[in-house]
Amino acid sequence: MTEEIVVVPGDGIGQEVVPAAVEVLETVGSFAFVEAEAGDHVAEAGGDPLPEETYELAANADATLFGAAGESAADVILPLREAVGSFANVRPARAYPGVDALRPETDLVFVRENTEGVYAGIESEIAEGVTTLTRVITEDASRRIAEFGFEYAAENGYDDVTVAHKANVMRETDGQFLDACRAVADEGDHEYEEALMDALAMHLLLRPEEYGVVVCPNLAGDMLSDLAAGLVGGLGLLPSANVGPDNALFEPVHGSAPDIAGQGVANPCATILSAAMLLEHLGYGGKAADVRTAVESVLESGPRTPDLGGDATTADVTAAVVDRL
Ligand code: NAI
Ligand code: MG
Repeated sequence: MTEEIVVVPGDGIGQEVVPAAVEVLETVGSFAFVEAEAGDHVAEAGGDPLPEETYELAANADATLFGAAGESAADVILPLREAVGSFANVRPARAYPGVDALRPETDLVFVRENTEGVYAGIESEIAEGVTTLTRVITEDASRRIAEFGFEYAAENGYDDVTVAHKANVMRETDGQFLDACRAVADEGDHEYEEALMDALAMHLLLRPEEYGVVVCPNLAGDMLSDLAAGLVGGLGLLPSANVGPDNALFEPVHGSAPDIAGQGVANPCATILSAAMLLEHLGYGGKAADVRTAVESVLESGPRTPDLGGDATTADVTAAVVDRL
């Protein structure tokens, strides 16, 4: 079967790193790629930053690979994550041999609830100078992310699962989140640890090796995963997946990097590693492992892009990965 993969490069370095990842996918498999438009450049040309056609293509694809959008990011990526019905945002943060990392022993995966929390979009100015925001935490979404997190840990060989919360203050909402996680853990006989998210931020910084999978409400997952990016050597290395019941979208954690766009020096590894997550999602675990091994080998021995202290181009690194494969 030839799966249909919708490819949305977007803006800035998205136009450079997505073709690199497509080249890698073409090396290991046979897919039908459908390129779709989105981002600032579409809006500047008078269009909608996320054209209806792109939304529909992503909604009906077997998987989507997204690069980055610029200023229109929120108008592009939030609806695209919704188009694929994703509820889990999976963000692995691993340190690699050969890459200068603050905490070389880091091997974390954030499993972030992707649909509600404070990102539910319910904000208002109730009076001049007084604004409010409604935090939505439902039992269903909390159970769903907990089930996903425990399953992910078991399937990927992580012994430590931590549930991040702040139920001592947000008693109703994080109380609900925690109750759902406890119930799912009981039903499946899963072991896990509960951690207050503020203290967890400090512990992750000091002793990342004590943690594995971290299940988080939406905002906490957003922040803690960026903290972890700082532990492992930067944004050029962090892939992510937005997973739904039967569709998914894969993207590097980084943005369009206008400061280096057009120079051909963007690090393609985050997007190539996102493509590896895509392969895994489509059932090609062996090919996914091959891609990861090739990236690890290139990171260890070079060539490396300037963000990792090297002087190689995006094309050099991509060619080296393809060569290893
Ligand atoms: P950014 O991730 O684009 O860049 C931050 C820094 O990291 C820059 O110095 C950049 O050069 C560097 N960097 C990022 N990815 C790199 C790579 N692959 N190789 C080498 N260096 C890399 O974040 P920033 O600067 O905050 O935002 C720039 C634009 O991107 C903004 O318009 C923002 O809205 C958008 N953005 C889009 C996202 C998305 O589409 N999912 C996510 C984050 C930001
Ligand atoms: Mg973020």
